[in-house]
Amino acid sequence: MQDLLQKIEAYKNEISSFSATDDKQVEDFRIKWLGTKGLVKGIMGEMKNVPNEQKREAGQILNEFKQFAEAKFDELKDATSNTVQQTSDIDLTLPGDETPLGSRHPISLMRNQIISIFQRLGFAVAEGPEIEDDWHNFTALNMPEHHPARDMQDTFYVDAGENAAVDWLLRTHTSNTQIREMKKGKLPIRVICPGRVYRNETISARSHCFFHQVEGLYIDENVSFADLKQTLYFFVKEMYGQDVRVRFRPSYFPFTEPSAEMDVSCFICGGKGCNICKKTGWVEILGCGMIHPNVLQNSGINPEKYTGFAFGMGVERPAMLKYGINDIRLFSENDVRFLKQFTSAG
Ligand code: PHE
Repeated sequence: MQDLLQKIEAYKNEISSFSATDDKQVEDFRIKWLGTKGLVKGIMGEMKNVPNEQKREAGQILNEFKQFAEAKFDELKDATSNTVQQTSDIDLTLPGDETPLGSRHPISLMRNQIISIFQRLGFAVAEGPEIEDDWHNFTALNMPEHHPARDMQDTFYVDAGENAAVDWLLRTHTSNTQIREMKKGKLPIRVICPGRVYRNETISARSHCFFHQVEGLYIDENVSFADLKQTLYFFVKEMYGQDVRVRFRPSYFPFTEPSAEMDVSCFICGGKGCNICKKTGWVEILGCGMIHPNVLQNSGINPEKYTGFAFGMGVERPAMLKYGINDIRLFSENDVRFLKQFTSAG
């Protein structure tokens, strides 16, 4: 019994002072001590040499020893599973690599802002094609062939081959979507139509051959010019603030009658006159009017029963004013130094 106790003491010392730095050493430890031919098993076998009256005590001591060895094994296992981090060069306290976050394009920010204001008034979003036929872009909008108003917008035509049944073009405005929505034949209609449009214009700091518009369309029984004004008043106050003043100037569009252009008091100088508003104190932001009866008729809507209004606004100009951008070409150059400056959600 005395021998046994001494042996256990020696074993315990050996186990205590053992340390491992990798999995292989831990496995060696397991085989040496806890394996089927290991020392723990071996010393357990010595029970048979212990006199009967001491067996109880010896059994307890041996069991404790076995647990001691097993605990050490667990400890070694835990320790080496962390050693990869402890012994390698990785410093877990260093800040991680930054994942670059994208930002929204300023045109998207502006467009989303416009959309969300009209959505609050119950307008749904509708989109139309950028490659359009002559009828939807012009004829149905009260601009038959040879109508002089077609020259108001320099058009890019698509070469669709000699056998093409119709003329294809890049839409010059989002008003084509008005026609497409009306043709669906579901009334009333209350939609806004954001999208890209194309005009054959010389590219400069102030104009580009493509840009963005948001069209608005509302058709129901008894829709009046007062409804149009009220809707646009709401939009302007939400967009530019409660203090902004609004004025309508009579204008001309073939597809609306009467037609108007809407100005807001310059939100840069507050109406005093600056470079942005060319010293007038006003900035033009959209064209609008009551939908011409011919347009309703062309799209299969009875103008005796229904009336409606439409408006169309550019997106680039208000975005340039809002963000202080002085060259329209920046929007399409995709220079990240420019783009990453716009981080606000929207
Ligand atoms: N389509 C016109 C333009 O591009 C704007 C507009 C839309 C005017 C709807 C009146 C009504 O200039």
